[in-house]
Amino acid sequence: MRAADISDDLTEILVTEEQIQDKLQELAEQVLVDYEGKDLLLVGVLKGAVMVMADFARALPRHIMMDWMAVSSYGTGTRSSGVVQIRKDLDTDLHDKDVLIVEDIIDSGLTLSWLLENFASRGAKSVSVLALLRKPDAMKVHVECRYVGFDIPNDFVVGYGLDYAEKYRNLRDVAVLAPHVYA
Ligand code: XMP
Ligand code: MG
Repeated sequence: MRAADISDDLTEILVTEEQIQDKLQELAEQVLVDYEGKDLLLVGVLKGAVMVMADFARALPRHIMMDWMAVSSYGTGTRSSGVVQIRKDLDTDLHDKDVLIVEDIIDSGLTLSWLLENFASRGAKSVSVLALLRKPDAMKVHVECRYVGFDIPNDFVVGYGLDYAEKYRNLRDVAVLAPHVYA
């Protein structure tokens, strides 16, 4: 669906679907150069990263491998606590692999910082991060993110994979959710 279909629920479109596709193309060109001559395993973090993974992987004019992980960070409400539980683990042995984690958003950074340590402990040769969105003002821990799509303000956003109560993932753009929806 498009923002116009649910305009009452949104206050602002932050990133349009065209901007997302252009950016993913640009990031794919960088990744192509950086991983030349190497096998590349893309790991998507479910469920939010489904759309980014689908479009980014298809923007890459080369072979890749793809795997998925589902984690949940326990905290109060929408806040990440940094205590992460694996809900679905990888099928791939990471030993000696060049891994690129594909994320929808870096908010506090706690989930990603846990994942980076976890992957390093499994013997990955390298672990880098691609995130479509990042909220610089919300970050609680520094996370090295090599490929960032867009830095956005510290508002709750939905769309392009990101949900509120499992809804809005199929919105084509990234938009700020109107407070009346979750108030
Ligand atoms: P952290 O805080 O650990 O973020 O960097 C972990 C996960 O929380 C989700 N998240 C959001 N989901 N709108 C959403 O729909 C948001 O503004 C938002 N901020 C964080 C997301 O799944 C992220 O990977
Ligand atoms: Mg996520």
